Amino acid sequence: MILIIDFGSQYNQLIARRVRERHVYCEIEPPGISIDAVKALAPEGIILSGGPASIYSKGAPRVNKGIFELGIPILGICYGLQYMVDSLGGKVIGSKKREYGFAELNINNQTGIFAGVSPKTQCWMSHGDSIGELPEGFVATASTDNTLVAAAQNAPRRFYGLQFHPEVAHTKEGKKILANFLFDVCRCEKSWSMKSFIEHAVDDIRAQVGKEKVILGLSGGVDSSVAAVLLNKAIGHQLTCVFVDNGVLRAGEAARVIEMFKKILKINLRFARAGKIFLNKLKSVTDPERKRKIIGRTFIDIFDKEARKIKGVKFLAQGTLYPDLIESRSAFGGPSAVIKSHHNVGGLPKTMKLKLIEPLKHLFKDEVRLLGKELGLPDDVIWRQPFPGPGLAIRIIGEVTAQRLNVLRKADTILLEEIRAANLYYELWQSFTILLPLKSVGIMGDQRTYENIVAIRAVTSDDAMTADWARLPQELLARVSNRIINEVRGINRVVYDISSKPPSTIEWE
Ligand code: XMP
Repeated sequence: MILIIDFGSQYNQLIARRVRERHVYCEIEPPGISIDAVKALAPEGIILSGGPASIYSKGAPRVNKGIFELGIPILGICYGLQYMVDSLGGKVIGSKKREYGFAELNINNQTGIFAGVSPKTQCWMSHGDSIGELPEGFVATASTDNTLVAAAQNAPRRFYGLQFHPEVAHTKEGKKILANFLFDVCRCEKSWSMKSFIEHAVDDIRAQVGKEKVILGLSGGVDSSVAAVLLNKAIGHQLTCVFVDNGVLRAGEAARVIEMFKKILKINLRFARAGKIFLNKLKSVTDPERKRKIIGRTFIDIFDKEARKIKGVKFLAQGTLYPDLIESRSAFGGPSAVIKSHHNVGGLPKTMKLKLIEPLKHLFKDEVRLLGKELGLPDDVIWRQPFPGPGLAIRIIGEVTAQRLNVLRKADTILLEEIRAANLYYELWQSFTILLPLKSVGIMGDQRTYENIVAIRAVTSDDAMTADWARLPQELLARVSNRIINEVRGINRVVYDISSKPPSTIEWE
C-alpha cells in the first residue's frame, strides 16, 4: 500500500484516486500519524501531499521526521516537496507571489519518476514558496521558466519531489510520473481490485461481528444498498435491514426496494410503513429546514422502534464513504464537510449504544459502484440518481399534503419515463419535478382552468458541489410538458429551471 500524508491540499483525494486506479491500495492519513502507526501500515511508499500552508507559517503541518529514516521511498508534492527539503537541511524561499496555472516543464534527467516522460511537457503549478537550496544528496531534475527547481531527487535514498501537481489532469504526463513512482521506485504490485476488496472485507466483517446481530438503515440509494449486499455476503441473516417508508418517496420506490432486497437478494428486511406519521408531523409546515429536521427526527424514532424489535442487536452498519471519513478528521475540512452534514442519513440513535460498522469507509464513490457491480447489483441500483433524505417534501414548495404528493408523484413518473426513454437517465446527475404552490390561468378544451405549476429540474454535475442545468432536447421537454398537463390533474403549466449551481442549488428547498 501507499501512505498519503494529508497536508491539506484540495487535490489529496485526487492523488488517492490516481493511485487506486492503478490498482494500488492507498490510505490518506493526517500529518499527526505516529511513526509506529506508519510502521504498522508498512507502506511500499509514502506520498507527502501539497497543502495551502507555507513551511514557515505558524501551525504549518508537520509529520514526524522519522519517516525519512524508514528506508521507504517518498514522493513530495508541492508543499510535500518543500517539507522534505526543509526537513533534510535544504532551504525554502518564502514568496508572497503565487505561481498558478500551466507551465512548461523542462526535464533534465529522464530516470526514476521521469523515465519515459517527454523532456518538455506541460505541468500544473500552484505554489507560493519555492526551493532555494537542495539538501545534500539531492539534484534538481526539472525546471520551468519561473521555477528553477520544479523537481528534485535523491535517487539512492529513493526520495523524489515535484513542485507541480502530477495528480491533476492539466499535468499532461502526470499519470505516467505517478505510475513510475508506484511501480519502478516503490515496486508496488497491482493487487487492489474490488474482488480482492470483497475477500478482505468479508473476513474483516466476520471477525468484527462474530456471532452478533447487525442492523442497517436501507435508503434504496447506492451506498446503503451496496453496504447491505456486502454485509449479507459476510454474515447473511445476522444482518437485518430496516427500510422506512416516510411517505415522501417517489412512486413505486418502496415496492422496488422490497422486491429487490427481500425477493431477489433474499436479504433480511424489515419494512416500516410510516408515511402517515411523517405526514401528520409535516402538517402546515412550510419552512424547508423545519421539514428536514422533522423528517430526520421522525426517521430516527421509527428506526429506533424497529431496531428494538430485533433482540440483541450489537452493531449499526452505515454506508459511510472515504471522503466523509477524510473530511471529518482533516484539520482543513473544507466547506464540503459542512455542506454534507445535513445530507447524511447518519446521526442514528445514540441511545441505542450500538457499535458502528462501516464497511465502505475506505472506498470512493466510483469504487462503491464497482463493488456493487462485482456483488451482482443491477445498474439500476448502482447508477441511480441521488435522492435526498427528506424526499419529495423538499420538492413540494409549501405544505406537504397527501393530495399534493399524489400530483407530484405523477408528474415525476412521467418525467423519469421520458428521460429514460430518451436514454438520458444515466447522463444526468439528477432529474426531477417540483410542485409550486402557485396557480396560473390556462385553457383546456373550452374551459378556463386555474391550476398549479410544475417545474422540471435536470442537472449535470460531478459531485453536486457545482451543477449546470441540462440542455435537454426541446422535443423531449415538449413531450414531458404535454404529458404532464394532459395526464396530471391539477397541473396546467410546466416550466423548465435554467439555473446553475451556484448561485442556485440543485433542490429548490
Ligand atoms: P443542493 O440542493 O444543496 O443539493 O444543491 C446537493 C445534493 O444534495 C442533495 N440534498 C440532500 N440530500 N438530505 C439529503 O440526503 C438533504 O436534506 C438534502 N438536500 C439536498 C440533493 O438532492 C443534491 O444531490
